[in-house]
Amino acid sequence: MGPVRLEDKVAAVTGAGSGIGRATVLRFAREGARVLAADIDSGRAETVAREAQGLAGTAEPIRIDVTLEADAERLAAAAVERFGGLDILVNNAGIVIHGTVADTSEEDFQRTIDVNLKGVFLCSKYAVRQMRHRGGGSIVNVSSINGIRGNHFHAAYCASKGGVVSLTHAMALDHAAEGIRVNCVCPATVEHTGMVDLAFRKAEDPEALRRMLLDKHPLGRFATTEEVAAAILFLASDEASFLTGVVLPVDGGRSIR
Ligand code: NAI
Repeated sequence: MGPVRLEDKVAAVTGAGSGIGRATVLRFAREGARVLAADIDSGRAETVAREAQGLAGTAEPIRIDVTLEADAERLAAAAVERFGGLDILVNNAGIVIHGTVADTSEEDFQRTIDVNLKGVFLCSKYAVRQMRHRGGGSIVNVSSINGIRGNHFHAAYCASKGGVVSLTHAMALDHAAEGIRVNCVCPATVEHTGMVDLAFRKAEDPEALRRMLLDKHPLGRFATTEEVAAAILFLASDEASFLTGVVLPVDGGRSIR
């Protein structure tokens, strides 16, 4: 086994209990990090923390709702209390509600923006304040291919994820002089995630949906959660020390079609 890549780093991952977030917590712990596994579902956060036992680093669960400012503040404070500071934040928590602008309710639009975009703002706000004390840090936002390209029946989701791309650019500029790098990943379809499982469950013809989606990916398959976690790890780690403001598609070639 090679040397671990996040030795002595403290990380917080939101939406840690499932899919990409869970894979990121486990990868970070394998790379020696001390990780706060943050999720609105405390049972899921506890499960992933248990799964990380025995790895090079550690993971501890924390229940937070990223849409609440007090919870975002509590996340950064918990990193300091439990691990002495915060080096890495992964803003991964997200939801999807399908629809066009014509058939999306105001509540659903607002909820999508609150979780997917406001949550990134709030968690980053308090993380940046702690990272300053360390003389730097790294934030990785999880946007989506839908943040850089349109998609049918994803109006609120596309708007929220496009906002995450723009916020990544803004934060990268604002905090570069403080040594805080801010980047984002834009995954296409990722298998074994809550989001994709939901889309298949709701589909009238799941096999047709699978074929249609596969056809969009030049590599001819979907991403694994581990492949997205590997891209997040790279951007979060010191190996990406000269990268900030990067919007990285993790999409099997989908965005170049
Ligand atoms: P998932 O649905 O498997 O897990 C999301 C987790 O976030 C859940 O454990 C849920 O409890 C938690 N969560 C939801 N609302 C929360 C809140 N308000 N506060 C704290 N935690 C909350 O998610 P998945 O599919 O792994 O997606 C993760 C991220 O990746 C999302 O931002 C999503 O938009 C993005 N993404 C996913 C893709 C996919 O194909 N699954 C493709 C592109 C982007």
